[in-house]
Amino acid sequence: MLAIPASFPDHFLWGVSTSSHQFEGGNTLNQWHDWERAGRIRSGTVSGEACGWWRNAECDLDLCSQLGLNAIRISLEWSRMEPAYAHWSDPAVLRYREIIGQARRRGMRVFVSLHHFTHPRWFEARGGFLDAQAPRLFRHYAKRAVRSLGDLVTDWVTFNEPNVYAAFGYLFGEFPPGRRNELNSALSVFSGMMRSHAAAYEALHREQPEANVGLAVNYVVFEPARDNVLDRQLAAAYDVLFNRSTLSYLQGEPLPLPFAMLAPSVPECVGKTDFIGLNVYNRLHVRAPWGEKFGPGGLHVPRHLPQGDAGVDVPYGEAYPKVVSAAVRVYAALGRPMYVMENGVPDRADRIRPWLLVNSLKELRQMWQQGYDVRGYFHWSLVDNFEWSEGWHLRFGLYELDRSTGQRHPRPSAELYRQIIADKGIRRETLERWEKAPG
Ligand code: BGC
Repeated sequence: MLAIPASFPDHFLWGVSTSSHQFEGGNTLNQWHDWERAGRIRSGTVSGEACGWWRNAECDLDLCSQLGLNAIRISLEWSRMEPAYAHWSDPAVLRYREIIGQARRRGMRVFVSLHHFTHPRWFEARGGFLDAQAPRLFRHYAKRAVRSLGDLVTDWVTFNEPNVYAAFGYLFGEFPPGRRNELNSALSVFSGMMRSHAAAYEALHREQPEANVGLAVNYVVFEPARDNVLDRQLAAAYDVLFNRSTLSYLQGEPLPLPFAMLAPSVPECVGKTDFIGLNVYNRLHVRAPWGEKFGPGGLHVPRHLPQGDAGVDVPYGEAYPKVVSAAVRVYAALGRPMYVMENGVPDRADRIRPWLLVNSLKELRQMWQQGYDVRGYFHWSLVDNFEWSEGWHLRFGLYELDRSTGQRHPRPSAELYRQIIADKGIRRETLERWEKAPG
């Protein structure tokens, strides 16, 4: 029998993550559609038909079967479910029932996110998560989702990355509504999302006692560029605000001063998570911004460090497998099961993806061996898809998508992932082959 030195437990979940707007295509009802039409995508592209899932997700579900996946994460498009305030769409529910049913028939456990950056235009017009009514509106939507899909789904992710949504929409101007440097609004949006999470958590559990409800956070390692007080303090401030705020909210602990004055705690969300999803990609280097040439906010990716393809104007980030263990150690404080819910790299030529895949899994396995409750890994993503403000410029797929024909072509990483899943672990020669990042 083959000796697998880095093996995983039998019940481990092997999946891919996806989201509605990036995969389904053909939706004109959300705020991202307006953002794209306003020409806000750096590569000048629009999501358009995306990966065509609204017509045919089944062909990609077949690819999932070929990889041997036993799990998948999708999201519901709130704007399809509730196209106008309090008007619910039956055809949307039917289509989601088909997609989820088809995934289950192929042996996959389906995790369903309720919000992955997009929501209905009417909700955005009210102010999105700045609207005091947002928790109530989001609770209605959650209730509708569980009532119409609860016989097929028990694993719910209320929100994908409230920290990214708030920062990109209200500090960096990269996502709608495109506001910049509004720290107060960003923190209000964040707490509005956490209140909405708590409301949805309660509704899901009330309707479905066996529901397993969590949320996904994006975790980044912030490294001081130099060993001096300013760089260390700036890196620590990023760490507190970006990485630890979700944890603080869920634990009922105030953020450290001075941030606590800006972001009051949200008592109703304390303890309200059954698991935590960790979306782990990058390390960023932080240099107190004055003087030299550094990116916005002093964030920087040194050229010599491993990275995939760069964005149109800025690097995507250093590909950093150790972010997996960093995030697991911090979020273990919740005492809940953890899943790596996203991990990947933009890499059209599949130059460094195999290295990232192998080494991220190696980190995750070490965490499991050390007794951390890590239960699954979801790669971002199955097939090239619409990458938000970069559009089609960045390619995250295990499969390459030819957008003119719709054909999918496996990159070498697809076969590598298939083999790891089949072996339930990583072969010695694979570990050795990918020990070092390709230059
Ligand atoms: C998001 C995905 C995105 C991925 C790659 C994550 O932060 O949840 O929607 O495509 O990063 O950038």
